[in-house]
Amino acid sequence: MSTILKFEAVAKNYKSGPDTVHALHATDFEANQGELIAIVGPSGSGKSTFLSLAGALLSPSSGKIFLNGKDISGLSKKEQTALRLREIGFIFQAAHLVPYLKVKDQVSFSAERAGTSKEKAGKKALELLHELGLDSRSKFYPKDLSGGEKQRVAIARALINSPAIILADEPTASLDSERSREVVELLRKEVEGTERAAIMVTHDERMLDLCDHVYRIEDGQLRKDR
Ligand SMILES: Nc1ncnc2c1ncn2[C@@H]1O[C@H](COP(=O)(O)OP(=O)(O)OP(=O)(O)O)[C@@H](O)[C@H]1O
Ligand SMILES: [Mg+2]
Repeated sequence: MSTILKFEAVAKNYKSGPDTVHALHATDFEANQGELIAIVGPSGSGKSTFLSLAGALLSPSSGKIFLNGKDISGLSKKEQTALRLREIGFIFQAAHLVPYLKVKDQVSFSAERAGTSKEKAGKKALELLHELGLDSRSKFYPKDLSGGEKQRVAIARALINSPAIILADEPTASLDSERSREVVELLRKEVEGTERAAIMVTHDERMLDLCDHVYRIEDGQLRKDR
């Protein structure tokens, strides 16, 4: 099985005035293709720090991060931005949709930013919206969608550039348990049997049976549960 994301002794410290916060201690980690991986842990334990490193939003203080075999730990800010656009799909707690864009444009916009023609981007967006059960919502504005629909749009948007990895920070935090399950099941469907992987931070233990592996993090120490 091919490895999508690999951490080798990755640590992250934050300088905060005279203090140093050890947000992530030296961590080894691997996400393989087709896998949905859960990260659970209490508030302040380092979950978002971990995802930010995985998503090239932060550079590690030490150690190396590989995405599809390529070392991404030493990239410049500009290189990180380009990498994020093409290789990484982000899904956040609140969907962060653009209020003045209709659903279809919301999804196709990221593809156009990555250089896809308007026509191709629109076609791909409609295909993804179909997969996610949102055919009838393509002309809606975000304000007219339910919470679950918004998160499904966020999944479509995260997928449009065919990223190597999807990173989701508490994607179900604003949803009831039935809607949460639907969203995580869709996320699972979008990675299972594909060449991509997904990592999801969650507080919701009820979602863990849908995940291939579960990691727990406490005080910046990540360990594999299963
Ligand atoms: N930019 C920063 N500067 C200094 N300290 C930071 C910074 N970002 C995070 N931290 C600290 O690093 C630790 C880990 O934070 P992180 O945001 O990764 O936690 P988390 O597990 O995502 O928490 P939550 O569940 O509340 O979102 C915390 O102690 C936090 O205060
Ligand atoms: Mg967090």
